[in-house]
Amino acid sequence: MIRIAPSLLAANFGALSREVEVLEMADADMLHCDIMDGSFVPSISFGHDVVANIASATDIPIDVHLMVSRPEEQVEYFAPIRPKIITFHLEVESEPVKLARRIRDLGVLAGVAISPNTPADHLIKLLSEIDLALVMTVEPGMGGQVFMPEMVAKINSIHKAIKSSGRDVMLEVDGGIGLSTIQLAAQAGADTFVAGTAIFSEKSSPEDAIKKLRYQAKRSSM
Ligand code: DX5
Ligand code: ZN
Repeated sequence: MIRIAPSLLAANFGALSREVEVLEMADADMLHCDIMDGSFVPSISFGHDVVANIASATDIPIDVHLMVSRPEEQVEYFAPIRPKIITFHLEVESEPVKLARRIRDLGVLAGVAISPNTPADHLIKLLSEIDLALVMTVEPGMGGQVFMPEMVAKINSIHKAIKSSGRDVMLEVDGGIGLSTIQLAAQAGADTFVAGTAIFSEKSSPEDAIKKLRYQAKRSSM
């Protein structure tokens, strides 16, 4: 199954409810919410109160991407919002199994993200404990960056590991996803695609952009 998850980071923060309505009409599969704390990454985006308001105004499942230094603290704020997934970064978590179990105990799917410099096997070791693997295809921290083609091999090795695990783990990619790069990621086995700039650009409507991304991903997926 292919999922397109628009990143709200590229939306107009002054008109979020309108942007979310547009994404509903456009059949977005999940709403990707990038939480940045000014510590794990330099910038600050928005916090749980904003996400709670968005969640109460839409039926689109919420995909929380925690780019924060102390994810175990933020999980306690985000879980009560009942998102579909909470994903934390492996680079900052010394007890990832414990945190993944905590997220699941709170009734939310658990995701683990790795930045470009983190090897695939760090994540592969955790596959039995998680519901989603997120491969960053840019350095985390901001939208509008260029997809790193070196990440394709990493996506593929995680895809293979998921297959041989026999578990149903989503494989998400995030950063620089557009009409051409989505093909590379889908060919490598990704099934869940975050896109900010490609969906909220002036060139086409979000609806159009999502349709085209979905089409490209479907025809390239393994
Ligand atoms: C980057 C964020 C992304 C970002 C993607 O650190 O995690 O979700 O919004 O934006 P684009 O699609 O513009 O690369
Ligand atoms: Zn993200």
